[in-house]
Amino acid sequence: LEKGPLSITVLGASGDLAKKKTFPALFNLYRQIKYVSGPYETEEGFQLLDKEISDYESENDHREGSRRLFYLALPPSVYPSVCRMIRLCCMNKCMFLELSQVIVSCGDGWTRVIVEKPFGRDLESSEQLSAQIGELFDESQIYRIDHYLGKELVQNMLVMRFANRFFLPLWNRDNIDNVQIVFREDFGTEGRGGYFDQYGIIRDIIQNHLLQVLCLVAMEKPVSLKPEHIRDEKVKVLQAVNPIKDEEVVLGQYEGYKDDPTVPKDSNTPTFATVVLRIHNERWEEPIDNAFPNQCCVAGVPFVLKAGKALNSRKAEIRVQFKDVPGQKQGRNEFVIRLQPSEAIYMKLTVKKPGLEMSTVQSELDLSYRQRYQGVVIPEAYERLILDTIRGDQQHFVRRDELRAAWEIFTPLLHRIDDGKMRPVPYKPGTRGPEEADALLEKVGYVQTHGYIWVPPSL
Ligand code: BG6
Repeated sequence: LEKGPLSITVLGASGDLAKKKTFPALFNLYRQIKYVSGPYETEEGFQLLDKEISDYESENDHREGSRRLFYLALPPSVYPSVCRMIRLCCMNKCMFLELSQVIVSCGDGWTRVIVEKPFGRDLESSEQLSAQIGELFDESQIYRIDHYLGKELVQNMLVMRFANRFFLPLWNRDNIDNVQIVFREDFGTEGRGGYFDQYGIIRDIIQNHLLQVLCLVAMEKPVSLKPEHIRDEKVKVLQAVNPIKDEEVVLGQYEGYKDDPTVPKDSNTPTFATVVLRIHNERWEEPIDNAFPNQCCVAGVPFVLKAGKALNSRKAEIRVQFKDVPGQKQGRNEFVIRLQPSEAIYMKLTVKKPGLEMSTVQSELDLSYRQRYQGVVIPEAYERLILDTIRGDQQHFVRRDELRAAWEIFTPLLHRIDDGKMRPVPYKPGTRGPEEADALLEKVGYVQTHGYIWVPPSL
């Protein structure tokens, strides 16, 4: 077989032939996917799978070690049986001394499994799942993926917070008034109603993606950038979150959601939620007012987590709003990290309005990635995370105790919703969501700047 770099140039690349035939063919050649089918609970299919992988390994000389990555893009109900089968039949192979069958070397081989959310429905089911998988695989072999941790600007969070003098003295309750972590989508559950209705927006987005982002915004500086040190700090901040109060929650369901034939007509599932979290630690909690000792633990910087489907726009961002400057009425400083689309970090500030007049205006310092890093390809979150798995780097994956702490925060609220004790209010698709959510935002202290809109710079 010939070796060395290969370039394939498609002439006429914008034409119909290329689109319909040439590109799919090239893609298929590139993939060479082997497909082995079989039930999840019995050994035969997995033995076949093991044989396929072993054949491939012996063709490719596996003395360096056989490395086996299993991506479980499956419903969690079958995780335990699939993990058991992998453990029984498909683990990475070591080299044996022919006759005596003595292990000579396993090289740098490994077996790792990637699992996708939902990791259970609540604290109890998640713990049960963790225990079942934990009996079969070591924590170092389990990669719980949360693709928000693979996004460029989420990964930038720690660098930005801890490598810049600007932020170190400001990042606390003395200066920050409120933080919003927002996810919006401008389409509904399209085709996923069956899955979605069992979980709802809190389990689908807030308990995982937005809470992971909150950890990075709120945590203390880790001892080092080692994955375990980072994850230790994430666990600590999660454990410091106060119980959620019903009056600091707004749930919504968009009109038309129940028209989906896979959604029950009496569904109580929220497609929108705003939830306020307060963190009980020195950085984020207001000192208890001694005059009102019974008021313990109420005050503190509100972290508003907001997510919704079928809204008026698609975006995800972190918005850190600073406290007022005495005597300054123009608007508050904000530090915004736009995760997507149009990745950007910008600071909203007040400047003199250019011109002869001495008046002020809201403007911004803008680091828009597309403009600043032209030609740099930002990898897809999954590309990055799968590569991390191959490299054995668990920094951007969720550890078991972290998952537990995340479920501890949301389980009481989720149970109240599941029991019908809290109900979503209807909202019109294509809007900002329920008005009650904006009212809650205002109540916890967010001040909207009217007449200012950030526009991503064009190239
Ligand atoms: C998934 C959710 O985890 O994230 C989906 O299950 C959601 O409901 C998706 O649409 C959003 O991902 P992204 O990367 O497009 O923001």
